[in-house]
Amino acid sequence: MADLSVNVCGIDFKNPIIPASGVFGYGHEYEEIFPLEKLGGIATKGTTLHRRTGNISPRIAETPSGMLNSVGLQNPGIDHFVEKELPYLLQKNVVILANIAGSTAEECAEVAQKLENTDVHMIELNISCPNVKHGGAAFGTRCDLAAEVTKQVRKATSKPLVVKLSPNVTDITEIARAVESEGADAVSLINTLLGMRININTGRPILHNNVGGLSGGAVFPIAVRMVWQVANAVNIPVIGMGGVSSGKDAIELMMAGASAVQVGAAIFTDPYAPVKIIDEMNDFLDSKNISSVREIIGAVKPW
Ligand SMILES: Cc1cc2nc3c(=O)[nH]c(=O)nc-3n(C[C@H](O)[C@H](O)[C@H](O)COP(=O)(O)O)c2cc1C
Repeated sequence: MADLSVNVCGIDFKNPIIPASGVFGYGHEYEEIFPLEKLGGIATKGTTLHRRTGNISPRIAETPSGMLNSVGLQNPGIDHFVEKELPYLLQKNVVILANIAGSTAEECAEVAQKLENTDVHMIELNISCPNVKHGGAAFGTRCDLAAEVTKQVRKATSKPLVVKLSPNVTDITEIARAVESEGADAVSLINTLLGMRININTGRPILHNNVGGLSGGAVFPIAVRMVWQVANAVNIPVIGMGGVSSGKDAIELMMAGASAVQVGAAIFTDPYAPVKIIDEMNDFLDSKNISSVREIIGAVKPW
């Protein structure tokens, strides 16, 4: 048995595998499928200051090797999360990353502040949502906005702060450096890539929102590339995700520089995916006589 434990921002994970935000809700549905204790961590559904109903359906579309979603940030609001969801999750002996979002930097900071007196382990700040104060430009697509929201959330929390980056940019390393300079303790990436499908019989986009976020196997090489670029650009840990569906994928993302790995869309095709991935990582490491998964973080040997 290889040692699968990792440490990110001073927080110990028993293994590096974390269901990604938005595919695992607050864990209840999966508790019936496998014990949540098997996981390294759980990234909870993106939570905002007030309850949101999300976008109008249809909000899911199939794509070759992946899916498009435009769920939007459907969630019950941070007070509900703190009172009703977090106590349950904190019993599970897994690291809880509370994924938060907001329409302004102030709203994000207020959400983070509401977690300050809880025992949640980490905050994952999703900066892919549009900033209403700046005409809807997503925080994560401009260095100045990414820096500003990180600065305000940093002031509001003493918890380890992971900033989740958008891949819908020309140079993700600039955004990573901007959030690092304002006090992010780690970055996670990638969020979904903007895509679109059209029903050619009706001429209408398949998603009611017209466009949505692409995730799943199709985005995996992009995630590997961006994790590698960001890991080489910043001095804080990187949590990788995007299209991971096997233990070998997770190992590859860690070789690119990820200290831990989130699993998103793969859970929809196989709800056991996170547990299988943990077992497959162990098998791979054993087959190579590697005693600790930490040895492979950033181990890629570029040409
Ligand atoms: C249905 C769905 C909902 C999502 N909701 C969120 C969310 O609330 N917050 C967030 O930061 N990312 C959200 N994501 C993005 C995922 O956490 C992840 O970054 C992305 O899907 C890439 O990983 P994957 O290819 O393994 O799915 C969502 C993804 C999907 C498929």
